Amino acid sequence: MCGIVGFTGPQSAAPILLQGLKALEYRGYDSAGVAVMDGGSIRLEKVSGRIANLCEKTRDGQAVPGCTGIGHTRWATHGAPTDINAHPHLSNDGRFAVVHNGIIENFASLRDELTQKGYSFVSETDTEVVVHLIEMYYRGNLKTAVMKTVSRLEGSYALGIVCTDYPDTLFAVRQASPLILGIGAGENFFASDVTALVAHTKNCIYLDDGELAELSPESVKVYDCAGQEIKKSVNRITWDLEAAEKGGYEHFMLKEIMEQPAAVKSALTPRIKNGEIVLDDFDPDGSLLRGVSRIVITACGSAYYAGCAGRYAIERLSRIPVTTVLASELRYDDPIIDDGTLLIVLSQSGETADTIAAMKECKRRGASTLAIVNVVGSTIAKMADHTLYTYAGPEIAVATTKGYTTQLAVLFLFALYAARKLGRIEDAQYRALLRQLKELPKKIQQAIDMAHSTEKLAQKVHKAPSLFFIGRNTDYAVALEGALKMKEISYVHAESYAAGELKHGTIALIVEGQPVIAVCCNEKLSEKTMSNIIEVKARGAKVLSVAVQGNRQIFSVADDVVCIPPTEQLFTPLLAVIPMQLLAYYTAKANGRDIDKPRNLAKSVTVE
Ligand code: M6R
Repeated sequence: MCGIVGFTGPQSAAPILLQGLKALEYRGYDSAGVAVMDGGSIRLEKVSGRIANLCEKTRDGQAVPGCTGIGHTRWATHGAPTDINAHPHLSNDGRFAVVHNGIIENFASLRDELTQKGYSFVSETDTEVVVHLIEMYYRGNLKTAVMKTVSRLEGSYALGIVCTDYPDTLFAVRQASPLILGIGAGENFFASDVTALVAHTKNCIYLDDGELAELSPESVKVYDCAGQEIKKSVNRITWDLEAAEKGGYEHFMLKEIMEQPAAVKSALTPRIKNGEIVLDDFDPDGSLLRGVSRIVITACGSAYYAGCAGRYAIERLSRIPVTTVLASELRYDDPIIDDGTLLIVLSQSGETADTIAAMKECKRRGASTLAIVNVVGSTIAKMADHTLYTYAGPEIAVATTKGYTTQLAVLFLFALYAARKLGRIEDAQYRALLRQLKELPKKIQQAIDMAHSTEKLAQKVHKAPSLFFIGRNTDYAVALEGALKMKEISYVHAESYAAGELKHGTIALIVEGQPVIAVCCNEKLSEKTMSNIIEVKARGAKVLSVAVQGNRQIFSVADDVVCIPPTEQLFTPLLAVIPMQLLAYYTAKANGRDIDKPRNLAKSVTVE
């Protein structure tokens, strides 16, 4: 989704803004632009398409003089991805330029009002109303004009603003869209996320909703929504630049797949102390869990599928009833949620608009909230009563891999923790499962090594018009994620079915040569899934199965087999997903896709 950067300091701004925009590329965009203060005027450059076009047009920023400016990558919502609709947008008098991330929901009525007052619009965007409102309210004090403007806006926004009367100053304001200030020495920044800041500074301030910031090279002031200056703490970014670079891999996605042993270790290790699980400051005495009658897990996309896979472990071990609900559905439902509900919210980015909305609704109804999030200081992390970070490090590829597996690792920790605190697990079983949990990073590495054949197997499926992913129970949860991964990066249509459902309709689609990917890692149900494999093979399907090492029968049933190392059955999704990720990756590669930035998708979906 849209990315924002701002810089003020002694150096030329445009090259720094372009570098920041490149760091935000992974969020997804279809046009880009910069606005730089050049003497008494604003110099604007914007193009549709890639940042590379903007770099070419501006000679990597050298052709745009000035030391204070704002930049933007736009992911089109209102109006096509054209040069004119690209941000920044200029006021009619040329005095103000604005970049915006989010959606102004009442833009149509504001547009009518401003048009009637004589302001002319050049773009189809919702954002343009903002810059005209600022011009309308400006009486020599930009802070006042911005505050009056945002009081008229409904929806979500992170705004970056420059004005010719303030040649070395940036203004930034946020409401339900991420915005972070970067604090440097004699220079200051803002950006949608820390990946655009780490090359320059590791000190940052997370703006909260309703706050406004005023940045010059020497100072950073933050005001609350009433305009009073407030003190904000400066946080230290723990990611380094190297973590946000490809490190020799052809794609970020492959790098992130390979990072999973280390990422899952980072999620688990700090939380296992002297043979006990410690979930940071979450419910140390178990009193919260004792009052919980029901757990609801909510999220979107892969994070939701991580919830589906983790649900089995939580319910089976803690015996608390667990339901999983898509956040985009939950937000408009009338859910039965009360103060006996623990809402577990999963999100890599911590900024997904639907997930935030669902969380707000459940909080309003009295639920306690536990967020499992990767991005430190993100909106969901801050909104939750309790947050467990996944410590996966920056995930740049749009298709999540280590984001998903670290979420699962934390869900497994939670499941075991809840069972222990509620006294619903024998000591010996607890210790055995904890041992298995600790071995997962090593086993992920083994699963990666065992999945080397996926590169060759991708050649068998990449031209298929459609793929089936099947499995039962925990394997079905993996099939859901496998099909999503395949669709989003290879553009091959893929559907997942609970294997037992085939007979109820979908088996009609099985014809000679139809590829079926069968996840068969749940030992209690593997006989059943193998029967389903035999059924589809009898109708001509070609079956690739993911199975646990030691399952000899599978070799006589499936056409191809990729094994994962044995582990506790409840934890198998964390290993079984590895060949799914690699198969999707190599299929996308065989199809020549833009793997890290698949079409139409954004890394962090900050609008509905
Ligand atoms: O940042 P989040 O985990 O909240 O994102 C949720 C989904 O948008 C995300 O998982 C999406 O489905 C991924 N592209 C899947 O790879």
